[in-house]
Amino acid sequence: MTKRVFSGIQPSGTLTIGNYLGAMKNFVKLQGEADCLFCVVDLHAITVPQDPAALRENTINLAALYLAAGINPQQATLFVQSHVPAHAELGWILQCVVHYGELGRMTQFKDKSAQRDVVTAGLFTYPALMAADILLYQTDLVPVGEDQKQHLELTRDLAERFNQRYGETFVIPDVYIPKIGGRIMSLEDPTKKMSKSDASAGAYISMLDTPDVIRKKISRAVTDSGREVRFDKENKAAVSNLLTIYSLCANVSIAELEARYEGKGYGQFKKDLAEVVVSELEPIQARYRELLATGEILDVLRDGAERAAARAEATLKTVKERLGFVL
Ligand code: AMP
Ligand code: TRP
Repeated sequence: MTKRVFSGIQPSGTLTIGNYLGAMKNFVKLQGEADCLFCVVDLHAITVPQDPAALRENTINLAALYLAAGINPQQATLFVQSHVPAHAELGWILQCVVHYGELGRMTQFKDKSAQRDVVTAGLFTYPALMAADILLYQTDLVPVGEDQKQHLELTRDLAERFNQRYGETFVIPDVYIPKIGGRIMSLEDPTKKMSKSDASAGAYISMLDTPDVIRKKISRAVTDSGREVRFDKENKAAVSNLLTIYSLCANVSIAELEARYEGKGYGQFKKDLAEVVVSELEPIQARYRELLATGEILDVLRDGAERAAARAEATLKTVKERLGFVL
């Protein structure tokens, strides 16, 4: 049977190549072999303050980026989370299934709440909404970066708890984390995850950075002591990260890259890496600009929401019956 795939990305700023290599590039691969739904998770974005005009723009831009990266709306269902009310409804229900202690143990919550003075209840209950996103579609497989692994484990626990208490309702989803690229690191500090919210723009490559900016950021990226281009996460974390990016963008194995750069030093390696990243992103950027100019994105999203809602409603109806709601 065809597998059902679901994943989401928050419209909270320009995506980095971490998001691209860890998540979006795999979405494109999976759409040919599975029944895929991809979502712009705006309800998740408002767990921290968002400027309304920026949120609107980021939502459209992220949808355009999905399409530009190769998501085909005839093949996969692309939609905005808030267009399908079932997400918020099941999200509430799962807030009444998840335990307070479980939410408190989420490392993403601990990290994000430590960075701000005011912490909303939504930031705390965020994983229940994420579980709802996934479980509404009876999802088999969830492609995400490594940082989402704990949320996926909680999603499985909630599905099992619900099934046990109320009878078989949800498919238990598996997580799909790429063997390489599941955690792309900062270009300035290879012990930190590459993140679009990094205070320093030199730490990440945005998917929309111009070729010159990409070249500059890669030439300034930290390397390790020595001059050998070798994959060794423990002793050569920075170079290993650059090798990972190179391998994924150029579709060449890390072993082959090590052989190619034997005895050549970091300079040539970084120069070539910059060109490889530029040639991966340039066509996406060109399609992105075209898509935004045509204005067809809203139609794609409306159609996606309709298709998603029909499926989500079916699951939600069963959930309500099982809970004892009067229908
Ligand atoms: P977000 O922007 O937080 O919605 O993340 C979207 C997707 O990108 C999720 O699947 C994340 O796990 C993934 N992701 C975010 N940062 C990285 C990174 N540095 N390396 C690999 N994947 C990432
Ligand atoms: N929490 C995810 C992130 O920050 C985004 C997300 C929301 C998601 N709902 C999802 C990912 C459902 C996968 C499946 O990256």
